[in-house]
Amino acid sequence: MKERKGVFWRSKLQRILASTLAVCMVATSIPVASAIATSDDTQVESAQETIYVNSYSGNERSIDFNDHWRFYLGDASGAENVIFNDSSWSDVTLPHDYSIDQGFTHVAPAEQESGYVLGGTGWYRKSFILSKDMQGKTISLDFDGIYMNATIWVNGQKLGEHHYGYTPFSFVLPNDILNFGGEENVVAVKVDHQLPSSRWYSGSGIYRNVYMTVTDPVHIAYHGNYVTTPKIADEYASGVGTVHVETTVENDRTEAAKVSIQNTVYRYNEDNSAVEEIAVVTSEPTEGTDIAAGESKTIESDVIVDAPALWSTDDPNLYRVRTDVLVAGEVVDSITSDFGFRWFKFTSDGFWLNGEKMRMHGVCLHHDQGSLGSEAWYASMERQIELMKDMGVNAYRTSHNPVSDEMIDICNKKGMLVMEEAYDGWKAYKDGNNHDMGEWFDVQVGEDNQIVYGEPDMTWAEFDLKAMIRRDCNAPSVFSWSIGNEIFQLITGSTSDYTQRAQDLVDWGAEIDNSRVFAYGCNQNTSSASDGVARVLYNHQDDYGNRGLSGYNYSNNFSNGHSKGYNVFSAETASAVNSRGVYDRKTTRQDLNDDKRLTSYDKSAVSWGATASNAMWKMTWAPYLFGEFVWTGIDYLGEPTPWNWTGPGANGQSKNSYFGIVDTAGFPKDTYYLYRSQWNDNENTLHLLPTWDEEDVIKDNQGRVEVVVYSNAPYIELELNGEVVGTATATVRKMEENDVYITYDAGTGAFSKGNDASSQYATFWVPYEEGTLEVKGYDSPEKTEQITEFEGRNQVSTTKGATQLSAYVDSPSIKADGKDLSFVTIDVTDADGHLVNSAEPEITVTVEGDGKLMSLDNGVHDDWTNYSDPDSESWPRETFGDCAVHRRRRLFYRDGQQQRFAIQQCDRDNRTGCRGRARGRRNF
Ligand code: GAL
Ligand code: CA
Repeated sequence: MKERKGVFWRSKLQRILASTLAVCMVATSIPVASAIATSDDTQVESAQETIYVNSYSGNERSIDFNDHWRFYLGDASGAENVIFNDSSWSDVTLPHDYSIDQGFTHVAPAEQESGYVLGGTGWYRKSFILSKDMQGKTISLDFDGIYMNATIWVNGQKLGEHHYGYTPFSFVLPNDILNFGGEENVVAVKVDHQLPSSRWYSGSGIYRNVYMTVTDPVHIAYHGNYVTTPKIADEYASGVGTVHVETTVENDRTEAAKVSIQNTVYRYNEDNSAVEEIAVVTSEPTEGTDIAAGESKTIESDVIVDAPALWSTDDPNLYRVRTDVLVAGEVVDSITSDFGFRWFKFTSDGFWLNGEKMRMHGVCLHHDQGSLGSEAWYASMERQIELMKDMGVNAYRTSHNPVSDEMIDICNKKGMLVMEEAYDGWKAYKDGNNHDMGEWFDVQVGEDNQIVYGEPDMTWAEFDLKAMIRRDCNAPSVFSWSIGNEIFQLITGSTSDYTQRAQDLVDWGAEIDNSRVFAYGCNQNTSSASDGVARVLYNHQDDYGNRGLSGYNYSNNFSNGHSKGYNVFSAETASAVNSRGVYDRKTTRQDLNDDKRLTSYDKSAVSWGATASNAMWKMTWAPYLFGEFVWTGIDYLGEPTPWNWTGPGANGQSKNSYFGIVDTAGFPKDTYYLYRSQWNDNENTLHLLPTWDEEDVIKDNQGRVEVVVYSNAPYIELELNGEVVGTATATVRKMEENDVYITYDAGTGAFSKGNDASSQYATFWVPYEEGTLEVKGYDSPEKTEQITEFEGRNQVSTTKGATQLSAYVDSPSIKADGKDLSFVTIDVTDADGHLVNSAEPEITVTVEGDGKLMSLDNGVHDDWTNYSDPDSESWPRETFGDCAVHRRRRLFYRDGQQQRFAIQQCDRDNRTGCRGRARGRRNF
């Protein structure tokens, strides 16, 4: 396929593309640790360079270790040594993804299925000074995730390796190789990401947070506090909740220590934004436990909370326990663990949360953050979960790998149930990606690897499963550990031992946590091989007698599993493929003039999948299914089916998936409102499509346009230029679980009744006429009350040509903490402020002030203009100046030291009043 040059495809897109552009600004911050600029005496030639050396003192247990890493793309011989000149390397702040920074390319070994980006070798180095009083303490570096194959050295000494790209790990830095009080220390990390390694976009590098942990030699082990509420199902009615804490304490002192544990419980405030200052309860310290020098022991303790408030998806009451370790009455170490009071029940008839039957309205999500690559920015992940929650999603499957620590925290706080998945495949690599985790699955950790919890004969399969569970086992949001996805699919080699492997994984996992069930997702469930795995899951019970979960991908065969008594669910549904704002075609996977755009009507899905409404209908009427997980909630980089290509090199430009209900820029496709209308019963939805410029639509031979309304209003009226052209009346069904489902079964005028699945929305055939099309919602056909508060686009107008840009932010302020982000949307409108769906101007964005523009995105699948220019301080007019902008572009902006953005003064609801320091250059 030839690479299309900017000019060519700009003119081509002009016709179809639209109008809104999103600028997203991220604001960040002041370095948390004090950064001192010094001239570095180990770097002889670098006198003119500013070298940042972070100084640390041991006042905090856990110290943000993300600032001022030096990065080099490529192999650098000897870079593990202290005396190595890294002055020409770039200065980066973590999280950092060196795949997204390299931009998109057709050049092998880049593959379309993983987003047309490169990996390769990357080196990181960081210099740091430790204060004198840290000598004698236990000091470790905790990495939440490095993709992939990381080797860690400190002061030239190799500590060990870690391979899987999605799990946390830690190394203790031996005191005897560290310098205290002035002289520098250097940590070096080599990342060796060899392609092909993934069926989707993975990213590369230290893309999650790093912390330094500093403790007394007598301390709680890494991820070593396990908090459960084992009796809450029985106790809740009597107004108490027992919090059971199992604390693993390590004694690195040279003499034995008598250790006791004391717990103090706190509550989070109403919106889980902060922990309340006054403790709920403090327990008595436990009797002393003797721990010999060099040994560790797990100490059990209980603390009773009066009138516990339950954690649920609607009301996620969150608690925190501070666990103190005492030696001779003195607190030597403390950590905090978040938890919640809730209990799960699974049977072959469904799922109960806190005794109430509930269906999971779920989505699968990959871990990338669109134009931010895989960088795990809290604010960005939080936005993803908020978008999903608003749609009515209450459960999320982390397909097909463990997510960041922060993502789990967000789910705890927002009330999102999580199925955390360990692996996409086991021993056999998938889709020809011979450098995926399969390469390491059966390899042993080995003798000379000092990784915490590593044992010489332990396989990485065991290590990484346990690492995921150990970190997240206190999370109230996590309801299940998935041991794999479609492990029989796209592989070569024998799977005759897969039943035994499933048993091993479940046994290893249960060693760490058996308070939840295990699960898998599969598309070959009726095969005997797959049934072997399902049996293993079924036969294993958690501490409360729940059996494991059998996930069915796409098929209807869950009835087969149900008849065997399995707890069944749809681990993947839909795989609908849509673009945003495309109404001039309506056929499945239909492309016009090779523009790689797919209809936004709910009429396009892959052959093995189903449209959103078809999948939803199937789910609705199989009440024993405890949930469906739509593939996917948000478009992700890579796997642009129906144009996906799994080999190296070029196959056209589409770089990201069409499966999302929301695009990569964070803009909902129309189907979002279909899900919202059926899943979010607490709020009103009123949304119509298409847009109303003649070039946007297709007419039938009578000149009529198919108009679709997604709503949960009991009665709707559709008006064209003020005249009612049709009405629809809903049948409102209350399901057993209090879910409300709507079907529009009757109507007048242009209304056209759909089949079962498509009656979940209202369809009208409206003779096309310029002007304004509007839908109004009412409580009943009697129209006693009009519904005035709702989400969705209830009105579309014929536009007068794009002449204006307006920008608005989605959060009123940005914290100057180096981490916060602001998302700015730019709309392209006509003189009346109506969004022009077909406008496709070039827009250049510049940002003034102490901030950094992170990236710019429009969600368009085959636009592979680079999302950002990491080398440019201000927004790169040079590199971005001639990019085409389709519909919407979203910029991500990070603040420096101040929160001074004109853009912050914009009122979200008053878009036209927005003038910003993010300015657009119009070029229509
Ligand atoms: C599934 C697979 C997903 C994704 C999806 C696309 O079979 O588990 O990772 O590839 O198909 O439809
Ligand atoms: Ca591949």
